[in-house]
Amino acid sequence: MDISIIGAGYVGLCSAAGLALKGNKVICADVDPKKIEKINTGEPPIEEPGLKEALDSTRDKLTATTDINDAVLRSSVTFICVGTPSTDDGSIDLSFVKAASEAVGKALRGRGYHLVVVKSTVVPGTTEDTVLPIIEKSSEKRAGAGFGLCTNPEFLREGSALEDFLNPDRIVIGEFDRKAGDALAKLYQNFNSPVVRTGLKTAEMIKYASNAFLASKISLINEIGNICKSLGVDAYTVAEGVGYDKRIGRAFLNAGVGFGGSCFSKDVLALTHKAKETGNTTPILDEVIKANKEQRKRIIELLKKKITLKSRRISILGLAFKEGTGDVRDSPAVDIVRYLLLEGASVVAYDPKATDNFRKIFPDINYAETARQAIDRSDACLVLTSWDEFRSMQDADFEGMKSKIIIEGRHVLDTNRVTGFEGICW
Ligand code: NAD
Ligand code: UGA
Repeated sequence: MDISIIGAGYVGLCSAAGLALKGNKVICADVDPKKIEKINTGEPPIEEPGLKEALDSTRDKLTATTDINDAVLRSSVTFICVGTPSTDDGSIDLSFVKAASEAVGKALRGRGYHLVVVKSTVVPGTTEDTVLPIIEKSSEKRAGAGFGLCTNPEFLREGSALEDFLNPDRIVIGEFDRKAGDALAKLYQNFNSPVVRTGLKTAEMIKYASNAFLASKISLINEIGNICKSLGVDAYTVAEGVGYDKRIGRAFLNAGVGFGGSCFSKDVLALTHKAKETGNTTPILDEVIKANKEQRKRIIELLKKKITLKSRRISILGLAFKEGTGDVRDSPAVDIVRYLLLEGASVVAYDPKATDNFRKIFPDINYAETARQAIDRSDACLVLTSWDEFRSMQDADFEGMKSKIIIEGRHVLDTNRVTGFEGICW
């Protein structure tokens, strides 16, 4: 199939690469010319395992442009994959989705039937109440007869985005009508995953419910973990014991410094705002977000029990919101560094992939080339991302510290190799 993808970020580009690997012809369109240039030279603008190889092996199938009109014209299916950030009050910012919908609609004017698929995460009702009327107006066509409309939420994780796109736990197809749903189902026919076909609004809700459950699971295990620490109980043995229960499962029971990333907080907040619009309250989800914020403060409180922070040199190992990515959006490290600076500490940070992105937020802190360089001469060390290279660290790596105060938030240091450190929940 000939596919165009509007928005070449994590979701757009990884979907594009995945669909090209499946044999489709894909054209990415983005408003950012730097991204487009990189993609066209085979250089992924984001760090994702396998993405470079995928771009290399699909050069004849995957191209990129800043010309949205041209991208749509050269395809029969268009995926909208632009960002849906939070506004200041936490509700969803649909400005990119609206702009993309209008551009797609304009391109469709005077053309034959074309399938438009919303892959961006949008609150229930958005595709029908916002995207559909915009496309109808700008295309001068009617949904159903003139163009098809689906919503197809994406469940990939950063750090394994391409692999997740190609092997999803499920494919959710929200369809305006059967014709549109059939066309999208055909596109996914060579994927080996269960398919849930439903209405537009239900598909949108499935995405929010999934992220809300995952975020809740983390805040709950963190709360359990904090209690475990006070009781002298090992939170990870508890997670193992609990995780064997098939109704619960072991995944997402890693207690620590909490969730970050571009989506959990923003999506849970967007859902709570949508809930209020419908006259519902969300006490559980409100607390999930609050508890996650508190967890970031908790590591500072633990540190303050050991030393005063003013004029201390604190090393931070791990800036990315999770291992395997250079993304620092809503990373726990962002809040934690901010707290440290407010307390008058100086910070020296190390991350194998996220330093450039972190530097854009904190240009004036010190950055080290290696973990050991960051640790040397520091008064305390906080471990905030579970990079594999931290797993093999040993006592010798911490020898250069002024005082051996290590608090870790990701259960990544090996107790057989490093002695005397404290965990946030263990
Ligand atoms: P991103 O910020 O990495 O990429 C969005 C891209 O859209 C950017 O490159 C931006 O330049 C481009 N863009 C903005 N307006 C545009 C327009 N009018 N026309 C063309 N391009 C435009 O975002 P992302 O992380 O890929 O997320 C995209 C959507 O997918 C969001 O709704 C997000 O919630 C959802 N999602 C993200 C993930 C993830 O892991 N990042 C996973 C599942 C779903
Ligand atoms: C998450 C979801 O897992 C994806 O299914 C979803 O598509 C995506 O959000 C989205 O909508 O954007 P992602 O944020 O990339 O994916 O990464 P996760 O692996 O879910 O991790 C999120 C955060 O939770 C990280 O900070 C991670 O360290 C933290 N986490 C995860 C824990 O603290 N404990 C755990 O047990 C698991």
